[in-house]
Amino acid sequence: MSRRRQIYEGKAKILYEGPEPGTLIQYFKDDATAFNAQKKGTINGKGVINNRISEHVFTRLSHIGIPTHFIRRLNMREQLVRQCEIVPIEVVLRNVAAGSICKRLGLEEGDPLPHTLIEYYYKDDALGDPLIAEEHIACFGWASPEEMQDISSMAIRINDFMSGMFAAIDIRLVDFKLEFGRIWDGDFSRIILADEISPDGCRLWDMKTGEKLDKDRFRRDLGGEEEAYQEVARRLGLLENADGGPGEVLDMANHRSRMRNTPPKK
Ligand code: TMP
Ligand code: ASP
Repeated sequence: MSRRRQIYEGKAKILYEGPEPGTLIQYFKDDATAFNAQKKGTINGKGVINNRISEHVFTRLSHIGIPTHFIRRLNMREQLVRQCEIVPIEVVLRNVAAGSICKRLGLEEGDPLPHTLIEYYYKDDALGDPLIAEEHIACFGWASPEEMQDISSMAIRINDFMSGMFAAIDIRLVDFKLEFGRIWDGDFSRIILADEISPDGCRLWDMKTGEKLDKDRFRRDLGGEEEAYQEVARRLGLLENADGGPGEVLDMANHRSRMRNTPPKK
């Protein structure tokens, strides 16, 4: 197989040149980072599960009319996506107080917010992704007012849809992060949803027990991160075959241990 050209390596993903112009291959790694990469580790099988969860969520969002970069999943760790120009803003939606907003505003984790909050962070690792206002976005031209209108209205629809999707499987969508990109058609561009949606970039709490089913398990050294990510995939129906047996995601995630435990066939 010929070597593919690597376009970009991020903390949890690698982007390769795609098979056709205007496409990329998005590869999901098991690497996990937190606190602007000050903390580094791996979560075994995370890339396989996030690839599958993100495929599922992006597909369902496209069914409600959200334009996304997702084309199709290629294999356990890769998906084909449309190439786009990433808007340098992380869009965070918050339904319940947790994480950085608690520190910043002295809130108690778990406090419901009076209404959903949208926050914007400037995507710049060297600056630690600072919180910014729409004024900064307009002032420095990171996105136009029309683009911000599209981004904020899509973000609110995505939050409504995902809150319902997770509530149906007894998971509270506390907060999450989105990234958007621009695709160009001549002189015109439009905004599409890009990156990924997975337990890496969401806070997901079990509705009944409050148990954390997301990357906070890694950030806060709670342990059980592999099981938590698998539990999200399982509740979304992504781990079972029609016969109720373990499906391909679980198969892959468990591949190594099965290989160790199963004697070779004669
Ligand atoms: P925060 O409370 O740390 O600001 O995070 C809010 C949400 O955004 C949380 O679900 C995790 C997600 N997030 C990312 O996906 N990437 C990031 O770099 C940060 C800071 C947060
Ligand atoms: N992924 C980000 C980082 O490593 C932050 C986070 O998710 O906590 O820097």
